[in-house]
Amino acid sequence: MSPSQLGLEFTPLEPHFLKDPFPFYARLRREAPVTFAPAFHLWLVSRYADVVTVLKDARTFSSRDTLRPPVALPREVMALLEPAGYTSDYPLLGDDPPAHTRLRALVGKAFNQARVNALEPRIRQLVSDHLDTLLGGEPRAELISELISPLSMSVMTELLGLPASSAERIKQWCDDEKLFFVPIPLEQHLRAARGVADFRRYLRELVEDRRKSPRDDLISSLLQARTEGDRPLDTDELVALTCVLVFAGHETSTNLIATALHHLLRHPGVWGELRKDTYLVRNAIEETLRYDSPVVGMMRTTTAPVQLGGTALPEGARLFLLFASGNRDESVFEQGERFDIHRASAVRHLGFGHGIHYCVGASLGRLEAQLTLEALLERLPGMRLAPGEAVSHLPNLVHRVPRHLLVEWDA
Ligand code: HEM
Repeated sequence: MSPSQLGLEFTPLEPHFLKDPFPFYARLRREAPVTFAPAFHLWLVSRYADVVTVLKDARTFSSRDTLRPPVALPREVMALLEPAGYTSDYPLLGDDPPAHTRLRALVGKAFNQARVNALEPRIRQLVSDHLDTLLGGEPRAELISELISPLSMSVMTELLGLPASSAERIKQWCDDEKLFFVPIPLEQHLRAARGVADFRRYLRELVEDRRKSPRDDLISSLLQARTEGDRPLDTDELVALTCVLVFAGHETSTNLIATALHHLLRHPGVWGELRKDTYLVRNAIEETLRYDSPVVGMMRTTTAPVQLGGTALPEGARLFLLFASGNRDESVFEQGERFDIHRASAVRHLGFGHGIHYCVGASLGRLEAQLTLEALLERLPGMRLAPGEAVSHLPNLVHRVPRHLLVEWDA
């Protein structure tokens, strides 16, 4: 049965849906766990077990079209982008084995736990600097624009070894590239394409520079990464990969921290409890990833006819794997609709995906969220949501994007 036959409308970009999509997911899980939503040409997969089945089988469920813009970009736009090396094939996220296996192994060599550990003192410092600025002003703030987003961009420039002054530029480029996924007038697409092409050229120069004079940063490590029997990354690959890292890492981290703070502050007593026991912070982050996943879901395409959750899917079916729904599946998470920072099973969430595409930035994202929450608990223990603050979300199919997070504290 399709959602509309159930009397349900899949309107993921409408304000009322964005406000609370979870009753819709719950009905899908109960009544139509694998179902076609014609308006989006997507099969919605809502149960935890079915999502995991798909994520474990990259041969039948391909990632090739995961991030392809929904409508092919106009010729004039591609004419600006192609000379700068842009294609709509996103490495890693949009790759299947064996290409994915090779890239992932190379990335794993360079972006490993040791690199994340080495970043910890720098992230601490960045959090502290950004908080100094925040606390120098009025005892109220819109935390996403005034703290979380700039901080997360600083972590990104630090990781990649880009100058801190390039943070603004990267943010602008991310915003430009996101426009490829929405229908807008050609003029705006052209403006965005100029920004994206400029940024690729900038990265290309930087990669060439690191090739000549390596530093202690991720781009240099990626250039040096080797696996047995495989060629190393070339400049084109590295530029495209760097873009994917920024694209996949900046906004997701921002949304995770903002969403965590929102739920921690809106549930009475929880912020105070965390203040007393900061060991709970890590679990609170896992519970946020489960309860309100920053990545709502990802796409896969079937490479052959297949049965999933009792439904026959044709070859070429485009699936939308609803991580946000699987994460509330009662067969895995008891009282899944409750936000509970003590939940021991939270870590089984699908917030970072599962299988071969499991998030490469998971430990960095976790660390950034942990250090930010710990610093806020220490320096703004009395922080609360501003009176009347009702967080709403931007229309976005894949990401859960809070528009604002207004907070206040005693001066
Ligand atoms: C993959 C979520 C942070 C880079 C993924 C996937 C999810 C995810 C769900 C799986 C995609 C799929 O199966 O198609 C998140 C969330 C984050 C986060 C919620 C919040 C903190 C980061 C960071 C980086 C990053 C900080 C990089 C610095 C990537 C990359 C992939 C990926 C490159 C593709 C991996 C592959 O295809 O093998 N992420 N991510 N992510 N993430 Fe993250």
